[in-house]
Amino acid sequence: MPRSKADKYSILLPTYNEKENLPLITWLIVKSFSESGHDYEIIVIDDGSPDGTLEVAKQLQDIYGSDKIVLRPRAKKLGLGTAYIHGIKHATGNFIIIMDADLSHHPKFISEFIRLQKEEQCDVVSGTRYAGNGGVYGWDLKRKIISRGANFLAQVLLRPGASDLTGSFRLYKKEVLQRLIDSCVSKGYVFQMEMIVRARQFGYKIGEVPITFVDRFYGESKLGGSEIISYAKGLLYLFAST
Ligand code: GDD
Ligand code: MN
Repeated sequence: MPRSKADKYSILLPTYNEKENLPLITWLIVKSFSESGHDYEIIVIDDGSPDGTLEVAKQLQDIYGSDKIVLRPRAKKLGLGTAYIHGIKHATGNFIIIMDADLSHHPKFISEFIRLQKEEQCDVVSGTRYAGNGGVYGWDLKRKIISRGANFLAQVLLRPGASDLTGSFRLYKKEVLQRLIDSCVSKGYVFQMEMIVRARQFGYKIGEVPITFVDRFYGESKLGGSEIISYAKGLLYLFAST
């Protein structure tokens, strides 16, 4: 199938203290798109990282060009959910890819997301750790139980028809993502889950690509006890309201 000339992919990269990871993830994304030939832009949403991530991002912009690396920083840490909302406002692509900047989401899967989207005309393609060859590497037992438990609870309560609800490595049609964002109430980590639950509610076509999630080497996770509590609250809210 000949691909449409107009297709452009905007990759949203939220960063908070990712100065070691940003150069490598950027290089891998650039490499993936140079190989596929698809048009793209990388939108870095840095929340005033004290480690100087934004300075690193500026250097990358000098290397790859300001059409490829777009900087949309915010003054302080305002959370992951609102970082996406902020990023999409500036996206010029007709498709949006959301992924973590810490190398847990490998850019090599992007071409599979794109292929599946085109083959099956998906509105959303979701990376999944919990189907096919997907999996998680490097997490301790506690983190595995939290993630599995969060997914299991959500599966039982919401029956969303997708195997990985809390993952965030996804491809969306832009207008679909915008509509989902407009209808989502959660702002924290539970945002990922609400997006996929709403997607199913609206009857959007969701495709899944098994991914391996590799725990970060540099820096640390921003997910802590308070996120887990707000996840549980958000889950109950969704259960009650959908
Ligand atoms: N701009 C911005 N602001 N970026 C943030 C913020 C924030 O407040 N908090 C985190 N990030 C960025 C990180 O720099 C990273 O690129 C990405 O968001 C994910 O953050 P991590 O702290 O690495 O999350 P995680 O590895 O614990 O959680 C991952 O797995 C969860 C459950 O499986 C993420 O993929 C989550 O989205 C996912 O829900
Ligand atoms: Mn991470």
